[in-house]
Amino acid sequence: MRIDIIAALPEIVDGPLQHSIVRRAREADAVTIEVHDLRQFATDKHRQIDDYPFGGGAGMVLKPEPLFRAVESVVDAHGEPDEVVYMTPDGEPLDQPTVNDLSMREHLVLLAGHYKGIDQRVRHALVTRELSIGDYVLSGGELPAAVLVDAVVRLLPGVLGDTSSALTDSFQDGLLDAPVYTRPAEYRGLRVPEVLRSGDHARVEAWRDEKRMEKTRTRRPDLLRERMPEEGRTEEEPEPDDRENGAEKNTDLKNRTPGDGPRGGEAEEDAR
Ligand code: ADE
Repeated sequence: MRIDIIAALPEIVDGPLQHSIVRRAREADAVTIEVHDLRQFATDKHRQIDDYPFGGGAGMVLKPEPLFRAVESVVDAHGEPDEVVYMTPDGEPLDQPTVNDLSMREHLVLLAGHYKGIDQRVRHALVTRELSIGDYVLSGGELPAAVLVDAVVRLLPGVLGDTSSALTDSFQDGLLDAPVYTRPAEYRGLRVPEVLRSGDHARVEAWRDEKRMEKTRTRRPDLLRERMPEEGRTEEEPEPDDRENGAEKNTDLKNRTPGDGPRGGEAEEDAR
């Protein structure tokens, strides 16, 4: 997979992507990540990337020209990406099915804005998808871009040592994860549940299932309603639209095939 990140403040994106699992994935060539400094695509003497908003108002807006040039330079060098994603608080909420879906693409371009936002013409002409990492506003899209990259890269084949561990993450089947314990079995009088030390795999799995349901019910009942829409839905609520539900897309990693994503079977030929 290839990910190009175009950022107003590239240093902020760079740091988090040089450690831990993302670093190992880069070293193993599971992913190639390049961070591009938006300022390098400004052509005026002062390398200006932002300007005042038409119509007035607070905050500066990222100018269209450097953003168009930056995306075009990526396309010239590496071809059309599968998605051009703009990180913005008014985007669609990022969730695990979206991350799964993006992890099956070959090439992503991420735009990380700063200041008040980016000129709407960039969103109109270049951006294919707008994503928010939560209902709060950060100073820019750099950290959200790093969050998205981390979430995607850990799902790439071969990146996590234990291949099943991504599948047992919170959210992969719509439930939160069960509590985990390690040695010592007793610490300051606090004991690890006996069942986890029993060696009885079936009992351990049953305990984990119960804990996952319990935690999800108390912390995120909305996830249970999403999982069982027939039971949670009231009469006024419409039938969910299959397309909006992502029914056309394979967002289930367990059924991942090399041809998933918009490029069909090409992924198999293009060795990663
Ligand atoms: N840029 C600023 N805040 C953001 C958020 N919550 N999600 C994505 N991009 C952002």
